[in-house]
Amino acid sequence: MGVGSIADGFEVTGGRRLNGRLVISGSKNAALPIMAATVLADDVFHVDAMPQLRDIKAMGDILISLGARITCGESDWRGCRMTIDTRDLRGNHVPDPLMRQMRSSIVLLGPLAVRFGEARVSYPGGCVIGPRPIDFHLQGLRALGIEIEEAHGELFARVRRLRGAAVDLELPSVGTTAHLMLTAAAIPERTVIRNAAREPELVDLQTLLRRMGAAVTGAGTPTITIEGRRDLRGAEHVVIPDRVEMGTFLAAAALTGGDVELVNVEPLHGQAVFSKLEQAGAVLAIRERSVRLTQRQALRAVNIRTQPYPGFPTDLQNVFLTLMLKAQGTSIITETIWSNRFRVVEALRRMGADIHVEDRVAIVHGGRPLTAAVVEIAEDLRGGAALVLAGLVAEGTSTIWGARFIDRGYHRFEQKLQSLGASIERISDG
Ligand code: EPU
Repeated sequence: MGVGSIADGFEVTGGRRLNGRLVISGSKNAALPIMAATVLADDVFHVDAMPQLRDIKAMGDILISLGARITCGESDWRGCRMTIDTRDLRGNHVPDPLMRQMRSSIVLLGPLAVRFGEARVSYPGGCVIGPRPIDFHLQGLRALGIEIEEAHGELFARVRRLRGAAVDLELPSVGTTAHLMLTAAAIPERTVIRNAAREPELVDLQTLLRRMGAAVTGAGTPTITIEGRRDLRGAEHVVIPDRVEMGTFLAAAALTGGDVELVNVEPLHGQAVFSKLEQAGAVLAIRERSVRLTQRQALRAVNIRTQPYPGFPTDLQNVFLTLMLKAQGTSIITETIWSNRFRVVEALRRMGADIHVEDRVAIVHGGRPLTAAVVEIAEDLRGGAALVLAGLVAEGTSTIWGARFIDRGYHRFEQKLQSLGASIERISDG
């Protein structure tokens, strides 16, 4: 899509240090499987700190199309209190246009199949950050007694005889782990997921599933055990803070030589990120529910390799790539999760960045001055955040088109940056 046809963007003027205090929102990637869990019960859920994002709206639209009633109470910086009522859920078919809006809605296939005996969703397909296969999802569902046929771009799931199973994942896939936890929670037998993803968002899902009545243990470790039940009930829940949003604002503070305190955070979830920031020369003051970053000395180059949790998160790789543009020296950034997550580099080069990419490795020569440019977000929300951060330190006023990608995953992004003193405005091309 050409730059001129994209309706919204940001104008960012570089050169201001970020200072002040900020509230972090509920986690997008925890909230999405939590919303999917609601189809397992015939009841009402109240979920606090639900971030108001395009991806959350997309999942909400899917649930509404299936017959759920959703309301959002008053919203604050953390998000809103969402009520999801699944008592009149009837549909078991997620139509293609809704499925396309958000590929992670694949996690509804198993839960809908166990609730209705069969379910149909369109095939999620590829993605800009790399192919997004679902083979692990399908293997896992089949092990639980769900038959799946792929035809005409759609997936049909039909329950044969539900059973608990031991499932060994080839890779610790976050989505597959969530999908199997959700599905197994409604099967009254024991399921064990081995080589499970250990992400904190799965621990949050475990907390919710327990409140709904399933016996789930081990989330956060490589082995998760689920003893499900058919009569799961509604629950109250508060979504955990977003660790990717926390890392993004810490990087923004470090990049601008700022002094920023973030509240409503879970510092335990940020260890790998904190350690990279400290190696780069930031000073962190970590408390129980807050973290303050002060950047007084020049940034130092550090090498980064993305890994499944508790390693350095792929979702912060682009943002740290931008951070390294201001560091003295050369950093080597290696992406091991997604095959196509350096798409931001082209736009960063237009702003003066010296980055060389070969396959999954980016070599960043930091310390060159950045200059404002007109750029377009390459359809990856994390790459979008990385570009805005570059704008905060580029000389002049940059125009960054494609704000809607950032709206997928950051709640009130520009307002939060403005509250810290950044010069950023949302603009429209007409
Ligand atoms: N994979 C397979 N087969 C599968 C599933 C995954 O080969 O059936 C591969 C993927 O191709 C990828 C790797 O396994 O190379 C990891 O994928 P994973 O399933 O862990 O990712 P995901 O569940 O699709 C979630 C987040 C992503 C985040 C990744 C990795 C959600 C909604 N999405 O995706 O978040 O990058 O885990 O941490 O939780 C984002 O928020 O910007 C985002 C992309």
